[in-house]
Amino acid sequence: MVATIDDAKRTAIGQKLADMKAVQQQLIANEEKLSSAVTDSDIRQRLQDMIDDDRKNMGVLETVIVEYGIQAEPSDKIQQILKKSQELMQGNEFSLYDKFAEHELLKHSQVMCGLLVHKAGQVVGADIEVAITPLNTVNYENRSHQELLKGILEIIGTRELTGQEPDQGLWGRVQDAVAALSGVVGSAVSRTKDDMNIVELIQTEHRKVDTLFMEIEQAKDPQKIQEFFGQLYKDLSAHAEAEQEVVYPALRNFYPETQELYDEHSEVKQMLEQMKSMNPGTSEFKSQVEQLKKAVQDHVREEENDALPKLRQNMSEQQMEQISSQFKEAKSRFQKSMAS
Ligand SMILES: [Fe+2]
Ligand SMILES: [Fe+2]
Repeated sequence: MVATIDDAKRTAIGQKLADMKAVQQQLIANEEKLSSAVTDSDIRQRLQDMIDDDRKNMGVLETVIVEYGIQAEPSDKIQQILKKSQELMQGNEFSLYDKFAEHELLKHSQVMCGLLVHKAGQVVGADIEVAITPLNTVNYENRSHQELLKGILEIIGTRELTGQEPDQGLWGRVQDAVAALSGVVGSAVSRTKDDMNIVELIQTEHRKVDTLFMEIEQAKDPQKIQEFFGQLYKDLSAHAEAEQEVVYPALRNFYPETQELYDEHSEVKQMLEQMKSMNPGTSEFKSQVEQLKKAVQDHVREEENDALPKLRQNMSEQQMEQISSQFKEAKSRFQKSMAS
């Protein structure tokens, strides 16, 4: 058996994340259409807040996909569903109530997809949890949006059916429902930013790599070892590539030892390539994992103790966020080329 770097379960979860991104785009487009169709200024304001959340969450989703490490195209099935939803939103044959009802269904499917990714991730590996934690925010906010949309449906539906306003106290009930939700979701505090700065991002990726080493060491089944190694291979390759393209050139200006970091990457890369053709069930593979872990940990220590503090000292928060977007962009590009 050779350590292939692809795994069906992980690809399937990656596909679901790609679906979520496509749905998120559609949710924003729907909300923009609904907002311009609504005459009620109160509802319009609430929709506007929802659009702001959803745009921010689009950024969160993009980060989660890059950190998860497997890029995929949205499925044909979801593209068909979205096409139908788009047609319904555009036509004149459906009332505003119908359109909001359709939108609420799409929100619901987004919530379910987010929960599913979490549950599936828990089954497949602890490293996935590290990558997808920010998804908690997206799920929590989408659940809140669902409550809000139910309230809007009540108002618009009552008006369409009777020409009259529904009973008072509706927004109060919506607020109570959202408050109850935050109790259920617990620690999923709403994030106001979609971005981690570059230092936070790199540290998160290092922790994911630590987790993968731990998983490899603890796994008994060669199949599982192969799966974790495949993910480690992808993560380390894309992480190193993005560091070299975006971070190290900037770092050179205030960290003279940057060349050492490049050299260490080459060494790690060589080890990874060697391991790809090894049998993960053997003791040679095990000792190769130990060597790789040591090389990676030494390198990570140097980055975290010496190099990253230099970035922090010499760059503004804004620059660090900007470089973080470039890093994700480079990593995502590399992941796509690995996938194809
Ligand atoms: Fe590095
Ligand atoms: Fe690194």
